[in-house]
Amino acid sequence: MISLSLHTARDHIAQARRVAVLTGAGISAESGIPTFRDTSSGLWAKFDPVKLASEDGFRADPPLVWRWYAWRRGLVGAAQPNAGHLALAAAQARFDAFELITQNVDGLHARAGSAPIELHGNLMRTVCLARCGFMEDDPLLLPVGEPPRCPACGDWLRPGVVWFGEMLDVATLQQAQAVAARCDVLLVIGTSGLVYPAAGLPAEALRRGAKVIVVNPQASELDELATVVVRGTAAVEVPKLLAAEE
Ligand code: APR
Repeated sequence: MISLSLHTARDHIAQARRVAVLTGAGISAESGIPTFRDTSSGLWAKFDPVKLASEDGFRADPPLVWRWYAWRRGLVGAAQPNAGHLALAAAQARFDAFELITQNVDGLHARAGSAPIELHGNLMRTVCLARCGFMEDDPLLLPVGEPPRCPACGDWLRPGVVWFGEMLDVATLQQAQAVAARCDVLLVIGTSGLVYPAAGLPAEALRRGAKVIVVNPQASELDELATVVVRGTAAVEVPKLLAAEE
């Protein structure tokens, strides 16, 4: 017996031609990647984001921050996409448009076969602190050092992720806003809806007449504006949501 909310959500998806998806850390929780704000297991419950996820924090102690990201890369390297990631990748071909926007930097959507718009960058990417243009997507090809020095300009190299207080890449954000503006249904999976500008995309979709479906085992900031809330985890509910009609 499926829940009323799941039934209603499936109806909206069945009528949609253009589906968009916004994901957060919750979709990777069942792959063993900690979320950020879970009160006990979240990264920010154990680590100081100002020290570890800001440019000032990096400049204060580059080796500490570099090693922390190396630890996170290790977690992600050992993880596998789960049924939620895989169901999203498998559903792409069923719609006129199926566009995925993620706040996650873990690369699990791409490993599942999706081509996500990565709003907050990617853990495996390394860039130059001075933004001289150097970029490397394979950590194995980096010069030695914790952190290494930029081979192009000599400044420090840093993780290719968006830190607190930093702007998102303008072209990437505009791409995500265009996706939210042209969808019939926006699936919002595993995000607390606390971090902008990503958290502003569901309101944009609603303004343009789309249905917003939230999937989250707990209450989030986006429940109030949602058309439907499916209370459950991503790896369990997303495959049910996207299962093809019998
Ligand atoms: N399935 C679905 N959702 C889940 C699951 C699960 N298995 N487990 C937890 N969640 C939900 C939580 O209830 C919470 O609402 O996922 C959400 C995770 O919220 P956050 O930890 O705040 O992560 P997110 O919303 O992605 O954070 C946004 O903040 O720290 C920055 O840059 C970082 O991209 C990140 C941004």
